[in-house]
Amino acid sequence: MENVKPFLEFRNVSKIYPTGVRALEGVNLSFREGEFVFLFGPTGAGKTTLLKLINREERPTKGEVWLSGCRISHLEERYVPLLRQNLGVIFQDLRLVPEWTVFENLLVPLEVLRVKRSKAFQMVKEMLRFLQLEKKGLHRVEWLSGGEKQKLSVGRALIHRPELVLADEPTKNLDEESAQAVVGILSEFAQETKATVIVATHDQELLRIFPGRVVTLERGKVRAS
Ligand SMILES: Nc1ncnc2c1ncn2[C@@H]1O[C@H](COP(=O)(O)OP(=O)(O)OP(=O)(O)O)[C@@H](O)[C@H]1O
Ligand SMILES: [Mg+2]
Repeated sequence: MENVKPFLEFRNVSKIYPTGVRALEGVNLSFREGEFVFLFGPTGAGKTTLLKLINREERPTKGEVWLSGCRISHLEERYVPLLRQNLGVIFQDLRLVPEWTVFENLLVPLEVLRVKRSKAFQMVKEMLRFLQLEKKGLHRVEWLSGGEKQKLSVGRALIHRPELVLADEPTKNLDEESAQAVVGILSEFAQETKATVIVATHDQELLRIFPGRVVTLERGKVRAS
């Protein structure tokens, strides 16, 4: 049998916040490259905490997190920006610049990574097409609907073609149609680029519609994976 090393691995991970809350307890999980995963569980189950351990917003109290052969839970602080260059993170608060255009919001991450302007423009145009927002490129973000803003925030996380995408409740406050459009974009991205995509959600309907692995968390423990 083929022995493929996991791309991302949680080894006996526990997270106890300074307040004493046990957000995660003895979590063991592995993810393969190109996997599309729903992280499912009720409020307070530890979904956001698990994602924060991957982008190093938090560190485990016990255990280790490994990504591509690197023990990221113990990575020196100065290498964290490098880790984050390979991640695409969709935060709950979107973090868009409302007075800028859609185009500008997509361009900024590429400027930070010093991608050449002509190449960056081409990548932004491709992303606008992928998001089906081509007609909105020159619109200011503050003019967009909630669903369009959410799509844009997904696009901004994907624009540099990360190998791992973390989306924390990307369908919150969206109607069913917009929610499915957003998850559809993430699912297509995983298929096209072989990126691993982890979507934290409460929404059982999404699990029914989209094929993918479901990891269920309950009170900080993995119930099923
Ligand atoms: N910074 C923090 N300090 C103290 N406790 C925290 C902190 N962040 C989260 N917690 C607690 O840890 C537990 C897990 O929280 P977490 O945000 O990971 O859950 P979640 O599954 O993302 O919930 P939701 O679905 O509501 O977003 C909760 O009891 C929460 O109150
Ligand atoms: Mg959460």
